[in-house]
Amino acid sequence: MSDPIHIPLNLAGGRRSDIHIGDGILGRLPERLAATGGLRKRAALVSDTNVWPLHGERVAETLREAGYEVVPISVPAGEESKSMERATDICRQMLRAGLDRQSFLIALGGGVVGDLAGFAAAIFQRGIPCVQIPTTIVAQVDSSVGGKTGVNTPEGKNLLGAFHQPRLVVADVATLQTLPDREYNEGFAEVIKHAAIRDAALLERIETRGKSRENLVPLIARNVAIKAAVVEEDERETTGIRALLNFGHTIGHGIENAAGYGRLLHGEAISLGLVAAARLSVEFSTLPEADAHRIIAALEAFDLPTRLDASSDREAILKALLRDKKFEEGKVRFVLLRALGDAFVSEDVDLPAIHEAVQTLFGP
Ligand code: NAD
Ligand code: GLY
Repeated sequence: MSDPIHIPLNLAGGRRSDIHIGDGILGRLPERLAATGGLRKRAALVSDTNVWPLHGERVAETLREAGYEVVPISVPAGEESKSMERATDICRQMLRAGLDRQSFLIALGGGVVGDLAGFAAAIFQRGIPCVQIPTTIVAQVDSSVGGKTGVNTPEGKNLLGAFHQPRLVVADVATLQTLPDREYNEGFAEVIKHAAIRDAALLERIETRGKSRENLVPLIARNVAIKAAVVEEDERETTGIRALLNFGHTIGHGIENAAGYGRLLHGEAISLGLVAAARLSVEFSTLPEADAHRIIAALEAFDLPTRLDASSDREAILKALLRDKKFEEGKVRFVLLRALGDAFVSEDVDLPAIHEAVQTLFGP
């Protein structure tokens, strides 16, 4: 079994997020909370209807045994829970349970719970500390790190939100054992994205390891290190560096929105976005075609979609793309690869090229 790995994420003004990755480390959560400092012993524990019975009871018990008052809150599993109404409901449950500004919130679950509960923590009494316990690959390698929280509206994904850095992130790979294969595989879209934008050697590692669920600690830690380094450089996405993490997401979010929540998992929509972005990188930059094929083959190895279903609504995808927040003032800022591991923001990709890339996803 791998030793736990600690990755500190240092931010301006002496702020810090402590990220711990390990196998079977949730039992030591009280110790980690105590070491974090500034957290009183009263917390909301927010989870979803799938994760609560698998891991929630145990985490609540561990905390209660250590003297914590725990207010459990469960939301329906699935992307539809990422709504303003649900965030308000979490806050109201916390108020009714008597939690106040001295309390903190723990988000236990995948990216949906992390984004939603993190947002509730950001707005509850103008902000209380948040601890993330991610239980999916997406959440461990991506959404729990970096402080982006938020909810969706009918107009698009993540359009309401706040930056709210977690004080502590505890990623226990043991929780991933209960992930169904489809949810396990979807997480690799974000892993392959990290490899594509920052670390060609990571792609090789994924290609060699295949779908192995063994010894995930170093793999998750490498991804966290990549994301943490980007966030340290550009916490608020103002210099263009953090925007590189959006590789594959412009078209991916369009597809996710158009499909309607529930049809495609987040990672599955991102997989299609990565295919399109890899092809555009060949067309508008210097990515060798063979490397675009490597990205596509890696996605296929995780059973991720690389072609749009014939029943997908092309017009709805294009409409959703136009509404996307990255198309500010009609200007398209699109993340491309110069080479594997080397991403940049381009302004050369025009809307007709994006439309063409979506069309190509339907196949010949
Ligand atoms: P999710 O949270 O919906 O989890 C996927 C499914 O797995 C759900 O049904 C969930 O109940 C279940 N699940 C979670 N953990 C489990 C476990 N250990 N065992 C069994 N089942 C489990 O989806 P996700 O893919 O984790 O996250 C997607 C969301 O994350 C999207 O809303 C996306 O926008 C967001 N996201 C945010 C960021 C960010 O920076 N904030 C980054 C990437 C993705
Ligand atoms: N997932 C994109 C970001 O955190 O910036």
